[in-house]
Amino acid sequence: GGTGLLAGIRVLITAGPTREPIDPVRYISNRSSGKMGYAVAAAALAEGAEVVLVSGPTALPPPQVHEFVTVESAAEMYAAVMARAESCGIYIGTAAVADYTPVAAAPQKIKKTLAETQIALTRTPDILGTVAGLARRPFTVGFAAETHDLENYARQKLAGKALDMVAANQVGQGLGFDAEDNALFVCWPGGDTRLPFAPKRRLAEQLVRLIAERYRATGS
Ligand code: PMT
Repeated sequence: GGTGLLAGIRVLITAGPTREPIDPVRYISNRSSGKMGYAVAAAALAEGAEVVLVSGPTALPPPQVHEFVTVESAAEMYAAVMARAESCGIYIGTAAVADYTPVAAAPQKIKKTLAETQIALTRTPDILGTVAGLARRPFTVGFAAETHDLENYARQKLAGKALDMVAANQVGQGLGFDAEDNALFVCWPGGDTRLPFAPKRRLAEQLVRLIAERYRATGS
């Protein structure tokens, strides 16, 4: 094995947005660029981890990880994660997974014949919750993107989904999504810390060190 805080540990990371098809040419998505997740992947790699990166569509160059899996929709991301989660020691859900998807993608391009129209949506599978519920679950880290009441929602998410750690960021008004810098409020059962604004690379290094520390402390 190599050296580093995560030497020899398989770490599964999700990054970027998902795309939920409306018809062959349209989709629902969000403003995630993938920068945060790719930075977490690079930081885990630098600590000696065997990194598996499952990525939604981004404009970033593919990183030199052990396995790079590209997906489009939340359903595809769910399948890619579930096929690998039980063989990993740590799961880090950085992706901005769509919460809703069209009930059915139209087989043909929808015509603009109506003045007003609606798209019926249904919930996507909860990837993070399903990973946390596995019998042989990895040390499970969720992200939380909130426009308000960040710390309360982060603690609720930690307890509600029985996660090992939550990394929460303020989003909206140019924060979080697609920004170069970010800040995190990180909590775990029994503690928390604030990582102030810094380039995502730098922040990811700090987060990965915290994860390695807690991973060892819980004897996962
Ligand atoms: O990609 P960047 O431009 O660098 O931006 C980074 C980021 C803002 C996207 C990132 O830091 C971040 O906050 N990612 C989580 C975004 C998000 O969707 O948060 P959420 O609060 O909606 O979801 C909470 C958690 O549940 C996340 O770990 C998410 O991966 C997970 N989830 C959500 C829905 C779903 N169906 N399955 C999931 O696993």
